[in-house]
Amino acid sequence: MLAIQGGVPVYDVKSRPWPVWPISDGTELSLLKEVLDSRVWSYNGPKELEFIRRWKAFTGSDHVFLVANGTVSIQLALEACGIGYGDEVIVPGLTWQATAAAVLDVNAVPVLVDVEEDTWCLDPVKFEQTITERTKAVIPVHLYGNMADMDAVLSIARKHGLRVIEDAAHKHGACWRGVAAGTLGDIGSYSLQLSKILTAGEGGILTAQDAQIAGRLDALRNCGRRPSNLIVDKGAGQYGEVGDFIQSGNYRITEFQAAVLLAQFARMEQQNAVRDKNACMLDAMLSKLPGISTMRDDPRETHRAYFKYAFRYDEGQVGIPVDRFRSALSAELGLKVESCYQPLNNCSLYRPHTKQRHNLNPEYWKAIDPSRFDLPACWRIFKSVAVTLPQNLLLASEEDIALVGRAVAKVLDGKSALV
Ligand SMILES: Cc1ncc(COP(=O)(O)O)c(C=O)c1O
Repeated sequence: MLAIQGGVPVYDVKSRPWPVWPISDGTELSLLKEVLDSRVWSYNGPKELEFIRRWKAFTGSDHVFLVANGTVSIQLALEACGIGYGDEVIVPGLTWQATAAAVLDVNAVPVLVDVEEDTWCLDPVKFEQTITERTKAVIPVHLYGNMADMDAVLSIARKHGLRVIEDAAHKHGACWRGVAAGTLGDIGSYSLQLSKILTAGEGGILTAQDAQIAGRLDALRNCGRRPSNLIVDKGAGQYGEVGDFIQSGNYRITEFQAAVLLAQFARMEQQNAVRDKNACMLDAMLSKLPGISTMRDDPRETHRAYFKYAFRYDEGQVGIPVDRFRSALSAELGLKVESCYQPLNNCSLYRPHTKQRHNLNPEYWKAIDPSRFDLPACWRIFKSVAVTLPQNLLLASEEDIALVGRAVAKVLDGKSALV
C-alpha cells in the first residue's frame, strides 16, 4: 500500500533523516571568531579578498567580486553593460523571478522566451527569433541540474552583438567544455543564498572577462567608487577628485559572510562530486521506469552541479496527474517533492505592475506586462511534467539513493490508488 494511503513508506525519515543543509562545523565558528576579533567586519577585508583569490583560481576568471545577493548581482551586471531604458533583455520564462526583476530594476524590458523540453533552459531557436533592434543582452539561466546550450547562446549573441550575462545561481562548479559556468559569457552571476550549493546565508558572486566591465562592476558594487579614485586635499578646505566617479549604491558583502564562504567553499567540490555520482545513479534507475524520463545528458557539460535533481513525468503515459504522483512520492520519501519554478508570464512573485516606480510611461508599462509572452513549454513542464528533489537529498548514501528509485517505482506500480 502506498504511504499516502497509510502504507509503510519506502524511506523511514524518522530513523534516517535526510542530510541537512547547510552543513557546518568548527571551521565556520573559528573563522567567524577571527572576523569578530579583527574588527574588520566589512569592506574588502582579508577573508573577502582570500575568497576572491580562490574563486579566480577555481573558475579561471580574472575579475571576481562579492556582492549582497544573486539578484543585485544581475542588476549590477546589466548596469555595467550600460543597459537601461529603451533596451530589451532576453530572459527564459522558467527561472526564479529575480532574473527578470533585475531587468526591471534597470528600467529595461524583460522579454520572456520559452525553454527546451529536456533541459528547461532557454530555447536557442526561440531566443534568436525574439531578437529585435532593441535587444541588448540575454541572460541564459542554468537551471537545477542542466546548463543552457552555451554553444548556441554564445554564437547567436555574437552574431547579433548582444551581451551575455550568465545566471549561474544554481551552478557553482559546473563546466561547459571544461570552462566554468559563469565565465562563458561577458559576466557571470552566482547566488550564495541559503539553499544554494555554495552559501553564505545570503550573498552573490560576479565574474567578468573584460577589464573595463570589471572596473565598472567594482565601482557599482561600492557606491560608485573606483579603486583609482582619490579625494585630494587641496588645502584651505578645498577638496578635488581624481578619476571618474559613477552613480551607484552599497551592494557590498560583510566579512562574516566571506568567512562562512571560505569554509563552505572548502567542502564544495567534494559535495558536488557526491551529488553528481548520486544523480547518475538516479538517472540510471529512473530512466528504466515507464512514464519517467531523465533530463538531457549533454556531453558538453563536462562537470555537473545540481541545485536540485529534476526529472520528467509523462502524465499521458502514466494516466495520473503529476501533482498526485508528487504527493505520493513525498509521502514515500518523507520530504517535499516539488514542481519547477512557476513560469514568469503568470507568476505570483513576478508582478511588475504592482510597483509604481515601473510606470515610466504607457509604452513601458505595456512592454513589461508578462502576460503578453507565450510560454507553452514552460507551462507544460510546470503543470504536467516537472518533478524536483532538493539538492541535500543528493548528499545521501548510495543505499538511500537506491530507495529513491524504489519509491518512484512503488508509486508507479500503485498508481491505481491515485486515480
Ligand atoms: C536562477 C536564480 N537567479 C537568481 C537568484 C537570486 O539570488 P538571490 O536569492 O541570492 O538574490 C536565484 C535565487 O534563488 C535563482 O535561483
